[in-house]
Amino acid sequence: MKKRIVFSSIQPSGQITLGNYLGCLLHWKSFQKNYKCIYGIADLHSITTKKIRKEKEIYKFSLDLCAYYLSCGINHKKSIIFLQSEVPQHTQLYWILNCFTKVNDLKRMTQFKKILLEKRVTNSGIFTYPVLMASDILLYQTNLVPIGLDQKQHMELVKKIGKNFNAIYGKTFILPKYFIPRIGSKIMSLQNPKLKMSKSDPNNSGKILVLENVELIKKKILKSVTDSENPPNIRYDLSKKPGVSNLLEILACIKKKNIKELEKKFFDTKSYKKFKCIVAEEVCKKIEKIQKKYFFIRKEENYLKSILLKGSIIAKKIAKKNLTKIYQKLHLK
Ligand code: TYM
Repeated sequence: MKKRIVFSSIQPSGQITLGNYLGCLLHWKSFQKNYKCIYGIADLHSITTKKIRKEKEIYKFSLDLCAYYLSCGINHKKSIIFLQSEVPQHTQLYWILNCFTKVNDLKRMTQFKKILLEKRVTNSGIFTYPVLMASDILLYQTNLVPIGLDQKQHMELVKKIGKNFNAIYGKTFILPKYFIPRIGSKIMSLQNPKLKMSKSDPNNSGKILVLENVELIKKKILKSVTDSENPPNIRYDLSKKPGVSNLLEILACIKKKNIKELEKKFFDTKSYKKFKCIVAEEVCKKIEKIQKKYFFIRKEENYLKSILLKGSIIAKKIAKKNLTKIYQKLHLK
């Protein structure tokens, strides 16, 4: 039987946060057993930001990300790892799908509204970015997309775009489901646990970067914002105790335990400092393992390039075949 397709992608921005890892990448390797997995490096998405456009070395960031995928258990012999810009069919389909996307639907995207609010002016790449995401996914007739919670709204739009096309041309695109992990789908800032942990956060203490010095990571966790409850209870309560809840989620993901179990375990602790020390230790243990693999693989530049090249050739072959069918439906040459 033909294997079902899993597709996901991350932007190569030079900074991978603990949120990216726990909300998304941590789960990718488990799909490799039962699915045909296609994992992209979304370099075209990343040039929506000025900072990355100015970078001379986006390709270097892509190699970093490739090494990172490998160190998190993605097997390039089982999965396709490819560079988005090396498969031109993504941008070809992107244009077509723009013609099946309502402007009002794009205007509703929370991420876009937030950026617009912060910067007041923005480029249209930011506005139409979910359409490029739709073309990434629909191009491969994807069945399942593992993502963090912040991409849920985009995924709903992806399905809507596919549906709009199918409504006119008959069943063309598979309408994909998404996988959002029950725990860790939205890791919050350590300094403001009401905000998502984000690579673009100017406050370095709020985010953990997977490749930064573990001593620094430890310090950040020990300094993380909690609350003033007395006695300090280690319990999960997103509205009253967002900081502690965030740390519990982080620990639950890393230790593969459920929150209730952890609450029980820490019931008698009554010390945020002790609890933070344990979280810091477990996070650093996990991160150290990834870093060890990463720094070893990252040195093999030619090896990484060959993996991306191989992946892009395979991806292009699938993409070309699928896009031809879409062109035919539209009576394009
Ligand atoms: P990106 O690069 O911003 O993030 C990559 C993945 O990490 C998840 N994530 C988080 N999860 C939990 N807590 C957080 N604080 C956190 N921050 C980020 C994101 O939800 C995402 O799954 N548009 C996408 C990249 C993309 C894509 C695609 C994804 C391009 N094409 C096709 C899926 C399918 C993005 O910018 O993700």
